[in-house]
Amino acid sequence: MFEVVVLAAGQSARMHSNIPKVLHSLSGMPILSHVLHTVALTNPDRVHVVIQPEMQATMEELFSADIHWVHQHQPLGTGDAVKQALPAISPDSNVMVLMGDAPLLSTTTLLQAKATSEHSIVVVTATVDQPQGYGRIVRTTDNKIQSIVEDKDATEAERALREINSGAIGGPVHLLADLLNEITPDNHQQEFYLTDVVKLATEKGLFIESVSTQDSTEVLGVNDRAQLANIERILARRRADRVMQDGTTLNDPNRFDLRGELSTGVDCTIDVNVVIEGKVTIGDRVDIGPGCILRNTDIGDDVSLQAYSMLDSVQVGHRCSIGPFARIRPGSNIGEDSRIGNFVEVKASQLGAGVKANHLAYIGNTTIGDGTNFGAGAVTCNFDGRVKHQTVIGNDVFIGTNSTLVAPLFVQNGSFVAAGSTVTQDVKEKALVVGRCRQRTINRWVPPARRKKT
Ligand code: UD1
Ligand code: MG
Repeated sequence: MFEVVVLAAGQSARMHSNIPKVLHSLSGMPILSHVLHTVALTNPDRVHVVIQPEMQATMEELFSADIHWVHQHQPLGTGDAVKQALPAISPDSNVMVLMGDAPLLSTTTLLQAKATSEHSIVVVTATVDQPQGYGRIVRTTDNKIQSIVEDKDATEAERALREINSGAIGGPVHLLADLLNEITPDNHQQEFYLTDVVKLATEKGLFIESVSTQDSTEVLGVNDRAQLANIERILARRRADRVMQDGTTLNDPNRFDLRGELSTGVDCTIDVNVVIEGKVTIGDRVDIGPGCILRNTDIGDDVSLQAYSMLDSVQVGHRCSIGPFARIRPGSNIGEDSRIGNFVEVKASQLGAGVKANHLAYIGNTTIGDGTNFGAGAVTCNFDGRVKHQTVIGNDVFIGTNSTLVAPLFVQNGSFVAAGSTVTQDVKEKALVVGRCRQRTINRWVPPARRKKT
């Protein structure tokens, strides 16, 4: 059997945070999710995650029910954390211990380590330019791994070593268990270090295997917020590269954040500072302007999404033009050839084909038929202070500028609402509604201040 232990119980001291470190968000999901995703791809028979007892409820809410949660009551070090998981691991298993704060380890590397852990103690290492903060791999003159020395315990000569411990250490569990029984907190941090099993194993004449990562970024750990931001950038860039490989132009791949899944058609262009969250699909020849935010949204072909528009859980038909500065909220459907212009908010509304709402409007809980024009400043009054009401507007209706449509309301096909009207009663087919005061004109009017005293 192959079992995995992920360590996630440490304090977030260097994060200066009340949130457990592994729950900080990376690329739109908790750091730990990235690790567990990689783990799942290596087909382990069981996954144990070591946590602080008070994290249990949150973890159960966030993660799969298949995970075995192990409690470490005090953060006495990585070696102590692994010890807490041992009783639940089958004695004939081989195990890989992973750090919950190292989210970039690849499946390829982990599979290699998994295979090696069947017969030997194995450490995943990498050679990096900046080894500060990591445990250093100390090798003998004939290149055998001798020990791992933590940064804080290292001599100056050891600090100069550039081969580091990724944190992923494994082997047959009976071997690890014996070695873990012998570790002591006899070090600078007064912790039980998992890494001490290496030194103890060499002392017993055991050979330690190493697996080197293909890419040195695989070992990066999140210990502080600067490292978190660095890893966020690396992940964002990897995702941007994939989007470009799939045939979309990114005006600047370093200023594109894909935090969910994006599926693209052909010849799309995405400008800078666009954020994609959840599951987003865009058709062919879609043009997304700078600063747009799209969440769980489907966009048809030939759509132009202009600067700083925000679309959340909506569907946009072919050939629409949206924005700049449009906000389309959950449950909305924009029919093909429609135009939603600047400062228009649409919420839980179904718009037919060729609808125009070009400027400064609010459309909420509304159904609009084909070819209807919704004028500048017009709003649907969908809320009576207690509940939301529906507005239904037919085909080819003209809603004049600054109209106030008080729901529930039915405005039938081909009708015309004059500018500035407050409409409280249903409007019949092809009718004209003028719901405003008649204009009064006083000719040759003199303002009071200019009137002569008599
Ligand atoms: C650890 C390694 C170091 C390695 C580095 C890679 C040890 C002693 N050091 O150092 O050699 O280069 O990872 O990133 O193993 N944790 C617990 N319980 C504890 C302490 C920690 O569950 O009592 C968890 C933390 O939540 C974290 C992980 O173990 O997810 C690693 O702990 P951390 O304190 O970050 O160790 P590093 O100093 O990074
Ligand atoms: Mg760490």
